[in-house]
Amino acid sequence: MAHDPFENVEDTENDSGNRPFSEVLAANLSRRRVLQGGVGAAALLMFGAGFARLSSDSRDPSSRLLGFAGVPVSENDLITVPEGYTARAILPWGDPVQPFGPRFRLDAGNSADEQAQQIGMHHDGMHFFPLPEGSTSSDHGLLVMNHEYINPILLHTDGRDSWSAAKARKELHAHGVSITEIRRNAAGEWETQPSLYGRRVHGNTPIRISGPAAGHALLKTQADPGGREVLGTLNNCAMGVTPWGTYIAAEENFHGYFVRRDSEHRLYNKYGVPLGSNERYPWHKVVDRFDLDKEPNEVNRFGWFVEIDPFDPQHQPVKRTAMGRFSHEGAAFTLAADGRVVAYCGDDSRGQYIYKYVSKAPYRPLTDPAHNRRVYRDSSLLDEGTLYVARFNEDGSGEWLPLVHGERGLTAANGFASQAEVLVNTRGAADIVGATPMDRPEWGAVDPTNGDVYFTLTNNHGRGSRWPTDAANPRPDNTFGHIVRWREAQADASATDFEWDLFVLCGDPEADAPEHRGNINGDIFACPDGLWMDPRGVLWVQTDISNRALNAGPLKPFGNNAMVAADPATGEVRRFLTGPRGCEITGVIMTPDLRTMFINVQHPGETSAGFPELREITPELPAPVNSWPAARDPRVRPRSATVVITKDDGGIIGS
Ligand code: FEO
Ligand code: CA
Ligand code: CA
Ligand code: CA
Repeated sequence: MAHDPFENVEDTENDSGNRPFSEVLAANLSRRRVLQGGVGAAALLMFGAGFARLSSDSRDPSSRLLGFAGVPVSENDLITVPEGYTARAILPWGDPVQPFGPRFRLDAGNSADEQAQQIGMHHDGMHFFPLPEGSTSSDHGLLVMNHEYINPILLHTDGRDSWSAAKARKELHAHGVSITEIRRNAAGEWETQPSLYGRRVHGNTPIRISGPAAGHALLKTQADPGGREVLGTLNNCAMGVTPWGTYIAAEENFHGYFVRRDSEHRLYNKYGVPLGSNERYPWHKVVDRFDLDKEPNEVNRFGWFVEIDPFDPQHQPVKRTAMGRFSHEGAAFTLAADGRVVAYCGDDSRGQYIYKYVSKAPYRPLTDPAHNRRVYRDSSLLDEGTLYVARFNEDGSGEWLPLVHGERGLTAANGFASQAEVLVNTRGAADIVGATPMDRPEWGAVDPTNGDVYFTLTNNHGRGSRWPTDAANPRPDNTFGHIVRWREAQADASATDFEWDLFVLCGDPEADAPEHRGNINGDIFACPDGLWMDPRGVLWVQTDISNRALNAGPLKPFGNNAMVAADPATGEVRRFLTGPRGCEITGVIMTPDLRTMFINVQHPGETSAGFPELREITPELPAPVNSWPAARDPRVRPRSATVVITKDDGGIIGS
């Protein structure tokens, strides 16, 4: 199937060194557990018995969390929200992060320097930090968001018709994170404010490296012989928020910006670094550090979590190596019973894993929020701790396997001479300890009422051939994705055992093929990605059906990408929002009063498999599909943007 050459390819795959679940099961599970669990338990989990087991003891089955009328599936070029709600776009790509900053040029003629003062491209994970800091202000705050990738046809006036160092620099500057101060005016509209905080962190911003891998030989380069400072953060997909109020930007498909000619390199193979050429991101032709023949370790300095203090432009962002290196989707933070910091995170690649980081020391919040933030951003909580990887057993139990040098085969004989090497090659370490290969883990969310953890598994077209199915990833061709859920032993996030079930298998109950039907209770959705549980306990799920599949074939019934709300107690799903054609819906947060919701629309106006007649996007005619959020004009570029959603009666979103 033909597709847009600059569509983001997230659907990457683990290399052949991975051990499939069947071998892991044979090698690591006790015979007793296999005999006790067995196929019967797995089948029950698939059909929902496990769901009842986990939820019935803690939830009111008559919950009326969802108070809105769901919207239908849509293939229209607009945002649809329920009756009684209004949606407005703000902060599109290219708007200045300060009101006095450089204006967006409709022909994409802004320079690289200007782009470094403007909102980046392709919005993703996002958080609202109220101002004043630590308050519950709901009409003034910092909106901090990630920019996952770029479309060069739209970013440059003449697209990639020519290539230059200036273009590479603009592309680097369109990646990263935007921090914008916004305030709601008397008319209820959110406006960008002149700000002490408004700024960009992008692909050339100096970032400190901390934790066990900092200073290791694998992180040293000619420009940074100490291995402790790197330029930039890239492919920032979802995010996290620390308990002390800093922002975590995750580096997802970082490998895609490099090129190497060494086909035998174990670490490059494990992380899928492009071999021979890279036309998607030809940065290596003009910036030496992206050519691994010239700078072999530069790629090892990406694939980490980046801590950014939104309230302090003077504080240098930090890459936290103790939390592992992989295609980080995001981090869902919570606290263990004893106050230690816990972050759940997924590696979004086919056959990759779900991880959990647990800090060594506990978090003891101080009274003053600003003082607390400054103390803990400079503490060791994200530098000293244990990284675990998840094994989902067939009987509904699960285990967190520590990735600690010297334990469980993570020894020099197996290629891990130190904890730094375990962390730089987190994927390889997770293979050895026997983690469960998953169907592309995306976002996680923690239920604030009971600690249950939800994780989206967006899809996996290769499971049947590459990895045998298992109870946690039960479909050989997982076209529609699913959501897994677990509860830690004693509901303590630092536990090393858990119980799990499948919250929902996505699909279309009307589908001819039984494996396509899923078990959704309510409005259908597919390819879950963005995930957030609000303080009322509503689970918001956002979809990312790739444009290769959108509006066509088995995914036709789902229409454009959307956001649904789920009631964890009843499993009921209701569609809250549909996006314009060609976009993904990603990133979701509300103001503390729950009366304003922000979501992001990423890559609107891309061509999709369902509308082949609209296929060609060119720099001259960039809107074959739409010019969203502007009215359609064939010459006007569509732009990723944030959407503000309010209830017309001023009520709580979703109620
Ligand atoms: Fe960038 Fe895995 O979504
Ligand atoms: Ca995502
Ligand atoms: Ca995705
Ligand atoms: Ca995507």
